Amino acid sequence: MTTLILTKPDDMHLHLRDGDAMRSILPHTVRRFARAIVMPNLRPPIATTAQAIAYRERILSALPPESAFEPLMTLYLTDNTAPAEIVRARESGVVHAVKYYPAGATTNSDSGVTDIARCHGVLEAMERTGLPLLVHGEVTAAEVDVFDRERVFIDQVLVPLVARFTRLKVVVEHITTREAVRFVTAMPANVAATITAHHLLLNRNALFSAGVRPHHYCLPILKREVHRVALVEAALSGNPKFFLGTDSAPHSRAAKECVCGCAGVYTAHAAIELYAEAFGANDGLDRLEAFASAYGAHFYGLARNRDSLSLERRSWQVPEELELGSERLVPFRAGESVAWSIV
Ligand code: DOR
Ligand code: ZN
Repeated sequence: MTTLILTKPDDMHLHLRDGDAMRSILPHTVRRFARAIVMPNLRPPIATTAQAIAYRERILSALPPESAFEPLMTLYLTDNTAPAEIVRARESGVVHAVKYYPAGATTNSDSGVTDIARCHGVLEAMERTGLPLLVHGEVTAAEVDVFDRERVFIDQVLVPLVARFTRLKVVVEHITTREAVRFVTAMPANVAATITAHHLLLNRNALFSAGVRPHHYCLPILKREVHRVALVEAALSGNPKFFLGTDSAPHSRAAKECVCGCAGVYTAHAAIELYAEAFGANDGLDRLEAFASAYGAHFYGLARNRDSLSLERRSWQVPEELELGSERLVPFRAGESVAWSIV
């Protein structure tokens, strides 16, 4: 197969940031995706419906003219989120989910949840209104090995959570382990997961190939090859619980290449092409469209997109750097090639 025509895909997990940085990266996503679930981990976080509406307006006004791109907004869950906020979010029609960051788990998560038991009222409201909970599934306890944080979170937090809120829609975001694949597979249809392109393409060796590679550092961190293989199997399984979410997360070169570098891999400039590589390498190109353009929309109760996107197997070279407002970022595969191109 050298040409692929897909229903225009949706990115069900994206970091767009704000201001000039957002303006410089937004065209990458708009070219490839019809819609995206936009993460709320700004400073300050997008914690209210009013903030989400204002952020959405800023995104819309930064779009290229004639663009039909639709940002799907999320709220940032805190210990103090009120159930009434969930009702407002649902009624707004622009908020599509609520993101649960355990406090301290990742970039801009310090206002996150310290104990999910504090949010039970909110979770009941979400269960009632059908608003999905998007989970950053890692424990934060310093004594837990960084490579085990997802697995431990599943046992300690997710298993009891889904047992208590049996009708709550849950997306385990950017899964990275065999255990997460097994957990999501075993749950009923209200529990799903996103999978990133970089976790399909890389294992943890990519963090240390001939030296430390800060641009491959993200959270949850890359895992062993057995886990990468489990993610590939899940993505190619045709199980609608697994769908596309890039977790493309821009940070400036300076913020990545320093003594305490930020977590995040930037893939928006080549996102669907990278997924095509991963699916193609595993003989699964015929399953890419459902993963990228159907299962996520269905989970969120959205109609399928009408536009299409054509890809061809023609390699191109990724620039060494891209603009990020007044700064520069180092994109995934910088200076190297990507096997698929948009026609
Ligand atoms: O690597 C990551 N970067 N993981 C996250 O959970 C957050 C993201 C970011 O916002 O930079
Ligand atoms: Zn993310």
